[in-house]
Amino acid sequence: MKDILEQLEDRRAGARLGGGERRIEAQHKRGKLTARERIELLLDKDSFEEFDMFVQHRAVDFGMDKAEKIPGDGVVTGWGTVNGRTVFVFSKDFTVFGGSLSETHAQKIIKIQDMALKMRAPIVGLFDAGGARIQEGVAALGGYGEVFKRNVQASGVIPQISVIMGPCAGGDVYSPAITDFIFMVRDTSYMFVTGPEVVKTVTNETVTSEELGGAKVHTSKSSVADGSFENDVEALLQVRRLIDFLPANNTVGVPEWPSFDVPDRVDMSLDTLVPDNPNKPYDIKELILKVVDEGDFFEIQQAYAGNIVTGFARIEGRTVGIVANQPMVLAGVLDSDASRKGARFVRYCDAFEIPIVTLVDVPGFLPGTAQEYGGLIKHGAKLLFAYSECTVPLVTVITRKAFGGAYDVMASKHIGADVNYAWPTAQIAVMGAKGAVEIIFRGMDADGIAAKTKEYEDRFMSPFVAAERGYVDEVIMPHSTRRRVARALAMLRTKSVERPWRKHDNIPL
Ligand code: HXC
Repeated sequence: MKDILEQLEDRRAGARLGGGERRIEAQHKRGKLTARERIELLLDKDSFEEFDMFVQHRAVDFGMDKAEKIPGDGVVTGWGTVNGRTVFVFSKDFTVFGGSLSETHAQKIIKIQDMALKMRAPIVGLFDAGGARIQEGVAALGGYGEVFKRNVQASGVIPQISVIMGPCAGGDVYSPAITDFIFMVRDTSYMFVTGPEVVKTVTNETVTSEELGGAKVHTSKSSVADGSFENDVEALLQVRRLIDFLPANNTVGVPEWPSFDVPDRVDMSLDTLVPDNPNKPYDIKELILKVVDEGDFFEIQQAYAGNIVTGFARIEGRTVGIVANQPMVLAGVLDSDASRKGARFVRYCDAFEIPIVTLVDVPGFLPGTAQEYGGLIKHGAKLLFAYSECTVPLVTVITRKAFGGAYDVMASKHIGADVNYAWPTAQIAVMGAKGAVEIIFRGMDADGIAAKTKEYEDRFMSPFVAAERGYVDEVIMPHSTRRRVARALAMLRTKSVERPWRKHDNIPL
């Protein structure tokens, strides 16, 4: 009996070594942790329960029948807890065949995906791999397809998070792409469909892996990734922080954590946040941090389309999604990038029953051929569509400008927001006063234009015309924003909306 127990311990110890000491050392030298070290950091201490530790590949082609059989086959899978809540995880082991995906490797991931969906619990994938196991050919492709299909079936049911912590190429990119959030580690991770050599052959471009698909590219240019972190440790700790904001699935509602920040806290400094000069910017993040619990804000896509700010926060200990125009970047205008960014975030919140607080200071949609040729109409429509289909509580605060179509789009009453507040500094109008007057009174002399501009400003550049019509429910004091928003969200907890049956909508993609 003792022998058998020792054998088990030996086999476990062998499996834990993955591709061996030499490759583990190489992994550390590159500033990367191993698959198991990453899981240890992601999950609560001693909470990891591993599955399929002894699974091995069954390939025979291209010398694989003679190749070393490494238990685990390049991916560590199982479940554990993050601050006590169940989370499923798979972590690619680069020390075993470069973390490449074989038929059996895929089966391990699929098992975890199926369990996560059955248990209605989040799943996190940690990526560090060289794509399909080249020796296995089509069996690996089939494995990818099975993984992708499950990612899609779980979409909108359980949170799916991908963290790229090394190479992520070929077949490996599409599973993350379907998940809800992708995070990357700066300098050590990259993602692309085809690598620099293929790019060189096909397009004759010379690029490095970093230039083609590093964290900077994907967080600021392509918007494929939602954030990047300095190293493995920071990335995993931040993912833990994100998980704390997310519901376990789409039916249980947001988690509630103890909060020491009273909901009726007033902040007098907000009364002077908006400058007297309407063209002067101010930082909307200051408002976000002053309104939410303990100033704790997890920003999504911080480096992309900074003219709109999206992220998770809490009010009365319960998660809310924040969407806010940012006057500091392009005056907070809505362009294609900002619209797409906002739309995806709004849809995430709606899918997972996370109430949305929208802070509005928007001068309109960005004019120009670049925008129109780039499909601004369709991209702007995505945001409009996303808000309009929401059934979650929507609370809107207009701090300053709410002009033109962008007024409608940014969670206005007309498209379904529940509680709409405006600050006394709000200006709700078709467009800025000068532009409006120049169109209505074309040909009028400068003095006349100035007089009419003043008249237009006095009449329309305030929240009161909208308030007179009930388009805003109340004009509120900036300092009481937190209290008002918290009260509105508390009242909206029982919101229930029926929609006509349909297979699915047809959002303008
Ligand atoms: C089998 C692989 C492998 C793969 C790496 N290895 N990728 N084994 N299949 N795809 C093995 C290497 O042989 C090596 O084994 C170990 O992993 C580490 O690889 P290195 O090349 O030494 O590491 P590094 O220099 O860091 O380069 C990492 C890499 C490179 C950039 C990922 O290995 C690479 O380019 N691999 C091939 C990538 C690729 O073309 N994949 C197929 C994509 S096509 P030893 O024994 O020496 O440690 C695809 C199609 C699916 O995925 C599409 C579905 C939609």
